[in-house]
Amino acid sequence: MEIYLARVLQWLEKVKSAQPQVCDWIGIYYKESYLHQINSTDLVIGPYIGEVTDHVRISIDRGFCGMALREERTVNVADVTTDSTHIACSLKTRSELVVPIANKKGEFVAELDIDCNKLNAFSPELEKYFQDVIKSFPLLEEYLPFPVEFFETERLILRKFTQADLQDIFDYCKNPNVARYVTWEPHETLKDSQKFIDFALSSYAKGCIDPMAMVLKDDSKKKVIGSIGVMAVNPKNRTFELAYALSEEVWGKGFAVEASKPLINYVFQNFAIERLQCRCDILNPQSSRVMEKLGMNYEGTLKASMYLKGITRDMHMYSIVKPDFKPY
Ligand SMILES: CC(C)(COP(=O)(O)OP(=O)(O)OC[C@H]1O[C@@H](n2cnc3c(N)ncnc32)[C@H](O)[C@@H]1OP(=O)(O)O)[C@@H](O)C(=O)NCCC(=O)NCCS
Repeated sequence: MEIYLARVLQWLEKVKSAQPQVCDWIGIYYKESYLHQINSTDLVIGPYIGEVTDHVRISIDRGFCGMALREERTVNVADVTTDSTHIACSLKTRSELVVPIANKKGEFVAELDIDCNKLNAFSPELEKYFQDVIKSFPLLEEYLPFPVEFFETERLILRKFTQADLQDIFDYCKNPNVARYVTWEPHETLKDSQKFIDFALSSYAKGCIDPMAMVLKDDSKKKVIGSIGVMAVNPKNRTFELAYALSEEVWGKGFAVEASKPLINYVFQNFAIERLQCRCDILNPQSSRVMEKLGMNYEGTLKASMYLKGITRDMHMYSIVKPDFKPY
């Protein structure tokens, strides 16, 4: 959910930057039934830019916000002080525009709420402008669960893990060489591999692109040969991290680099991301090479930054930041 909400905030920033003169406060109210999938008629606040507001929950019966979703129409108020139903987010607000947002099925699920400190701020042209803008609003169902079923590269398919992968996961994750520099222990029984599948399925449900299963296109058995993913280590800071682990049988063939590229492209193109990072133990030069071959910048070595498997680890840190990113 945090990944999704960060994306919505990014969308709001773009909308505000296009019409800064009227957007003193701009935010999203959702139908609670849509955002949290619970039986409720209330509206709850989503991301916003502007003064902190106490109105984190609004009854659909109240205010212009309630009216826009109740009556499923844009509410344009030239002077909020003349209307007793107005719920003041800020005492400075003079005019307000509320545009309901529908999902692809045409059901109204949220609204764009804009407060302006000037009277009569929203001309018919501006009203139309914001009604058009909401067509690009990031809907929840575009992000949750993680919507892409598979990515394809020259030699690989990257797809979501399924229950059927249990044995394949165990086969490569039981190898201590594979687990040597990662945060997890070698799998001792299928139960360990089952926990990994459970983690993967819950991760997709939260909109995460981590972990994806790697399969060789030309393998008739389509055995899983590793996992790769980009996880949101800090969605508020828009920081994501790349991680990968391959079956030892396929090391040295450039698969980690090949698999990383479509995922990195995807996150920079679809998520609110400022920084993609990747770390590896200084004793794991194969992984450093992967990052170098991906064109990531070496930022330095974080001394004693991980304690893993009874050893304090020095970690190389690599990154790509948004202004430097060029799609592969
Ligand atoms: C790290 C890892 C993902 C690299 O994936 P990969 O697909 O084998 O990577 P590449 O084929 O691009 O090889 C990377 C570099 O390591 C070298 N290399 C590969 N296997 C090697 C081996 N067994 N010993 C020494 N060097 C090796 C390659 O020659 C290559 O360097 P080059 O391009 O300059 O020739 C893989 O080794 C792995 O899964 N390791 C275990 C899990 C792990 O450590 N994950 C990373 C945690 S940060």
